[in-house]
Amino acid sequence: MPTKENLIKNLKEKKAHVGILGLGYVGLPLAVVFAEAGFQVTGIDPDLRKVDCLNQGVSYIPDVKTETVEKLVKSGHLAAATDFSVLKDVDAVSICVPTPLRQTGDPDMSFILSATEELAKYMHKGMVVVLESTTYPGTTREVLLPKLGTDRDLIVGEDWFLAFSPERVDPGREDFTTINTPKVMGGITEACNEVAAAWYEGAIQTVHRVSSAEAAEMAKLLENTFRMINIGLVNELAIMCEHLGVDVWEVIDAAATKPFGFMKFTPGPGLGGHCIPIDPMYLSWKMKSFHYNARFIELASEINTNMPRYVVSRVMEALNDRGKSLKGSKVLVLGVAYKPDIDDVRESPAFDVIGLLRKKGAFVEYHDPYIPHLHHETDGWQMDSVQDMMKAVHEADVVVIITNHKVYDYKAIVESSTFVFDSRNATREVANGTEKVVRL
Ligand SMILES: NC(=O)c1ccc[n+]([C@@H]2O[C@H](COP(=O)([O-])OP(=O)(O)OC[C@H]3O[C@@H](n4cnc5c(N)ncnc54)[C@H](O)[C@@H]3O)[C@@H](O)[C@H]2O)c1
Repeated sequence: MPTKENLIKNLKEKKAHVGILGLGYVGLPLAVVFAEAGFQVTGIDPDLRKVDCLNQGVSYIPDVKTETVEKLVKSGHLAAATDFSVLKDVDAVSICVPTPLRQTGDPDMSFILSATEELAKYMHKGMVVVLESTTYPGTTREVLLPKLGTDRDLIVGEDWFLAFSPERVDPGREDFTTINTPKVMGGITEACNEVAAAWYEGAIQTVHRVSSAEAAEMAKLLENTFRMINIGLVNELAIMCEHLGVDVWEVIDAAATKPFGFMKFTPGPGLGGHCIPIDPMYLSWKMKSFHYNARFIELASEINTNMPRYVVSRVMEALNDRGKSLKGSKVLVLGVAYKPDIDDVRESPAFDVIGLLRKKGAFVEYHDPYIPHLHHETDGWQMDSVQDMMKAVHEADVVVIITNHKVYDYKAIVESSTFVFDSRNATREVANGTEKVVRL
């Protein structure tokens, strides 16, 4: 049987052996979804701690239950390894490695490159490879295709198959998870698209095919750029409303009553997470090679990046109004995760807010039920979450809410505090009429 038909048959019958490169927030849920669908799945990650955990049947990602991992490991559907040589027996590979930015703001492609180089050693006929990591348009064709195929005399679309399918997982979300969030799939050739879609359709409810890998890469960047720009817009709106003496939260709530043509975004202390602050910069970087300046992205990035500084200046003003200086004041930061109810601090604006407060001479402590320890590698500071949160609230000159975790009792916090600076409108139910809350 020709290679393509044979591979599709094996994928449909779940006889194909699946390999997942990178077992993080994206890779582990994906490995679990394929294993639950009946595939034999091997995850490969250089992080020995993750590999050991997985092989012991223990999950280290909050969205994936340990019982689920334990069951799949025991049944032989899921295993993990640090040694890439397991790839020689693998038919279908998803690459889910990090794509951060360098200090200079340029894409850091080192993880994609190292994963591709490892995979290249074990490439063989009859393989399908799907890149899931968010990246600039052209990566799949310009970076993966030569290293995995062309350089090895393997003809793409005939001997092996290559596609891009962006991950859309939203950590902490329960209504939409990997299995029921539609997957966009774009192949290097039509045959690549057909094979990759046949694989993913065996585990994921909806696969939306597009005509090229570039269209799939660009679709992901549109999704995240859309969010980044709209957040930039409401952040600037918050600054404008402050000048006008208008409550930005009331304005947004009012606009959101329009049942069409408006989508609600809320302001905050800055962007966070592994996606929204980073992914649009991949597009902006790529456009520079066409001498094109991605103006919306650059402008939104400038506004969003400045939000921690804006928050600190507002805290300083609020202290000043109460006859105090920021220098020497005790500041308690509540919530340092990049979004509510999760344990992830990647790119969290809390780092910049805390760093700026410290530079201004404030005594800063923080509390986060999900983050026991905070370490800023570049600036070299670290601290532990306070043990007795309510005591710290009572003793602080100001409590600054950065992340609106649901578990906090905001009424009790406001009552025990000297005053609260609320950058998320977390106190909306308790704040009205009280002089003790200053909102962004
Ligand atoms: N986390 C999210 O919410 C999310 C959502 C959508 C898309 N994405 C994108 O998915 C990709 C992965 O993100 P993540 O959040 O899972 O990252 P992560 O840091 O949680 O996990 C990545 C894993 O890859 C491993 N790794 C590093 N180099 C490797 C290599 N050469 N070979 C194999 N494994 C390697 C790391 O050890 C780590 O365990 C990124 O491109 C990200 O932008 C993430």
